[in-house]
Amino acid sequence: MITAKEIRQKYIDFFVKKHGHAAIPSSSVVPENDPTVLFTTAGMQPLVPYLMGEKHPAGSRLVDSQKCIRTDDIEEVGDDSHCTFFEMLGNWSLGDYFKKESIAWSYELLTTPIGQGGFGIKPELLRVSCFEGDQNAPRDEEAAGYWKNCGFADVKEASSDERKLIYFYEKKKNWWGPAGQTGPCGPDTEIFYDREPGLNPHEHASGSTEEMRNKYPLKDGSGRCHPNCECGHYLEIWNNVFMQYNKKADGSFEPLAQQNVDTGMGFERIVAVLEGVSTHYETELFTSVKAQISALAGGQIAQNEENIRSVRIIADHVRAAAFILGDKMGVTPSNTDQGYILRRLIRRAVRHGRKLGINRHFTHEIAETYIADYGDVYPELTQNRDKIIDELKKEEEKFQTTLENGLREMKKIFSEAKADFTAGKKLDDKALAEKAFFLYESYGFPQEMIVEELLREGLSIDVQIFSTEFENKFKAHQDLSRAGAEQKFAGGLADHSDESRKLHTATHLLHKALKMVLGDEVHQKGSNITAERLRFDFNFGQKMTPEQISRVEEIVNEQIQRKLPISCRVMTVAEAKSEGAVGLFEDKYGDQIKVYTMGDFSMEICGGPHADNTADLGAFRIQKEEASSAGVRRIKAVIGDAAKK
Ligand code: ALA
Repeated sequence: MITAKEIRQKYIDFFVKKHGHAAIPSSSVVPENDPTVLFTTAGMQPLVPYLMGEKHPAGSRLVDSQKCIRTDDIEEVGDDSHCTFFEMLGNWSLGDYFKKESIAWSYELLTTPIGQGGFGIKPELLRVSCFEGDQNAPRDEEAAGYWKNCGFADVKEASSDERKLIYFYEKKKNWWGPAGQTGPCGPDTEIFYDREPGLNPHEHASGSTEEMRNKYPLKDGSGRCHPNCECGHYLEIWNNVFMQYNKKADGSFEPLAQQNVDTGMGFERIVAVLEGVSTHYETELFTSVKAQISALAGGQIAQNEENIRSVRIIADHVRAAAFILGDKMGVTPSNTDQGYILRRLIRRAVRHGRKLGINRHFTHEIAETYIADYGDVYPELTQNRDKIIDELKKEEEKFQTTLENGLREMKKIFSEAKADFTAGKKLDDKALAEKAFFLYESYGFPQEMIVEELLREGLSIDVQIFSTEFENKFKAHQDLSRAGAEQKFAGGLADHSDESRKLHTATHLLHKALKMVLGDEVHQKGSNITAERLRFDFNFGQKMTPEQISRVEEIVNEQIQRKLPISCRVMTVAEAKSEGAVGLFEDKYGDQIKVYTMGDFSMEICGGPHADNTADLGAFRIQKEEASSAGVRRIKAVIGDAAKK
């Protein structure tokens, strides 16, 4: 059988060797210069500047496997289809080929036999969908036409036993982007895989439903199931987005200067399809870790629904945590932003470990397995191995303390309730639920654990009332955090690009100034930009003195006042090195890299984008200089009006 590694490689090779693409490495899971999102959620995200017209040093045809994190449905992880971390295989045309080639090549890769460079999927197991059109953009007959060239038929015109079918859907289903409020977007065509080929195309496992009969009626009185039906009959495996519009702030759409293709294939899903299993948790990707969890839990884990879910949650969350910790962006567990998500992932994994009876620190052991499994494809995992292991151990330790404190708090609450109970008072289930929710919120104690403890204490609560109240509180809390998260995700890269461009430029000036003041061996260890500030991590053994800080500020402000023009050149790694450019060479795209020069002051390799002139920054001020980790310092700085205060 084809292995997961071979599948990933085959995808890359197909586009590189057969269709002239350049393979580029995955970008970070934390967007480098986009303050509006916490994590990279799709392969196209790091490529937005190039989709908007910036020239990519590796050319106009790219292919990669991008590390992605999606946490919006973290509570659903453990079911058959969700995962927090996943890899997205993608091929891009930056103003190069468009719908015709994209569709033909997708079909070619999927259906060419395994021995001849393809995935060997039987054509009759594929279905596709196209955009049906609305007031902003026409029905995508063009894409459908290219599918017809591959032997597909419009579902409305097909005979009842036809299987290679094209379905049309509204914008909600067949349109992608922009990533924020504005930016590149367009109609897409999605490719689905028939997971139950034994069934008639016009049958659910449970027969023909009313929805099917209404939507796609057949002559015999039944109806067809369709790719976006919730029943699970079809699995979406690939999405080809035809980015031909730019959505503007006023909500209108204008044609993009260049037409792009952005595709995304869920790696875990294609592995499941090619291995013939029903969920990615059954694939080879999780085999060793699942066995390891069993062993940690003392051998055999009873295969009931709850335990299966716990194993999956651990497998998923530790993988995501390892990739976040192993990323060059330097995220560690904390109570804000990415660090908060990371903390939640680790703690949730630990809790499910306890549920399975694992009573010692274990997440770092599982992370070791992932580092071994993925280290050759994502070398940063191996490079950051010690950090991954240390941080996991530390976080488990902290959680342990929190749990102990929480247990004490819980005992207090319960013993008060118990005293009342023994004194003959009726328990106030609602009030108890409220306190229980507090425990959940502060210490992460799940409802069922609290109920168990209450019952163990011999308190006969009304579980029904208690649960309803708890759920109500939980929902209100979720809505609140969702609203918070949406705010975080609103905006989109394009909205803040001006501010983040400038902060990005300030980062280069700061980098150079630090080298001048502290010594040339100082270099970047991480960088992060929000709408308000830049953050810059660098290697340096001690706290900077106030004089050093002022000197760095002075130097950067001088460069702003000198109004240095900023320019970008594409060159080879060797040329960049010989010209004295600084920056991270090892993870840069292929041979050709971009080098940004700021007057005679700074030359750094970087993907951009940047301000046009250092004068655009206005002013620069360091807000904070602190330790980040052993031997690494962190600076937070602001520009413009914020720097003048
Ligand atoms: N950007 C598209 C997606 O994430 C390919 O589905």
